[in-house]
Amino acid sequence: DEIRVFAPATVANMICGFDILGFALDEPGDEVIMKRISTPGVVITEITGDDGRLPLDPEKNTVSACVQFLLHNLGLQHEVGVEIKLHKHMPIGSGLGSSAASTVAGLFAINALLGSPLSKEELLPYCVEGERLACGTGHADNVAPALFGGITLIRSTEPLDVISLPTPKELYAAVVFPQVDVPTRDARQLIKEKVLLKDAVTQWGNIAGLVAGLFKEDYDLIARSMHDVLIEPTRAILIPQFYEMKQIALEEGALSFGISGSGPSVVAVTRDRAIAENIKIRIQQHLNESEIESFGYVSSV
Ligand code: HSE
Repeated sequence: DEIRVFAPATVANMICGFDILGFALDEPGDEVIMKRISTPGVVITEITGDDGRLPLDPEKNTVSACVQFLLHNLGLQHEVGVEIKLHKHMPIGSGLGSSAASTVAGLFAINALLGSPLSKEELLPYCVEGERLACGTGHADNVAPALFGGITLIRSTEPLDVISLPTPKELYAAVVFPQVDVPTRDARQLIKEKVLLKDAVTQWGNIAGLVAGLFKEDYDLIARSMHDVLIEPTRAILIPQFYEMKQIALEEGALSFGISGSGPSVVAVTRDRAIAENIKIRIQQHLNESEIESFGYVSSV
């Protein structure tokens, strides 16, 4: 009675769709190993890859808290006991949906160990609750793609209405994480609550254009649409070298470039794996010259 579950890193917002669009990467991702034990309750026996930053206390750890919450809601908290090992393979606070990957892996694992009483759709609200615990708001644009894979649209959060969008065959992402700390909570506080109508019109034109581009597999339309006039100008100041990195990516042929989730990771979307590899290398070299350490990943979308 043991299960090992992998949940992928995700790129929230997909540049223009703040809180409503996101896509999953092939790698990196987090891993949860969950085992049934005879004593009821949830215990965490091991966490690796977190530099000691995550609590082992099952009440405070997001993964175990969500598992407990699910067991409670199913009326099983006095019957079922599980032991959790969490292996993190991506940095915390990186803008790659690190908390979402762990939460989704944990909830998928407990559901599978129970014989899958809940569908993925029914599991999603528990994952959103995990995000609320981790960063203060229940945005679903990381947990939904981590759970369903591919590209997802969060049409509404209350009530939850999530739609899987088509994934064009030739879409790749180069993701680079410059090692500066940008907690999602802080990156959200920075954003202005009011937007100008003319900017809102530009933004929803772009979002609609991107969704149409995905359905038509029209890479030019996708490239024209992936611009963010609302959030990026404010958040870019938290990311060293943002505009320099953007220039490199666009010069090297990226369809688009922007912030991954709430940052500090940045993402270049390309039509070709080799272009994505090259952009990742060029950006990492550039950061290196500025003495900023970085991790980079290339993945299909
Ligand atoms: N949509 C969220 C944000 C994602 O941009 O704050 C956080 O990972």
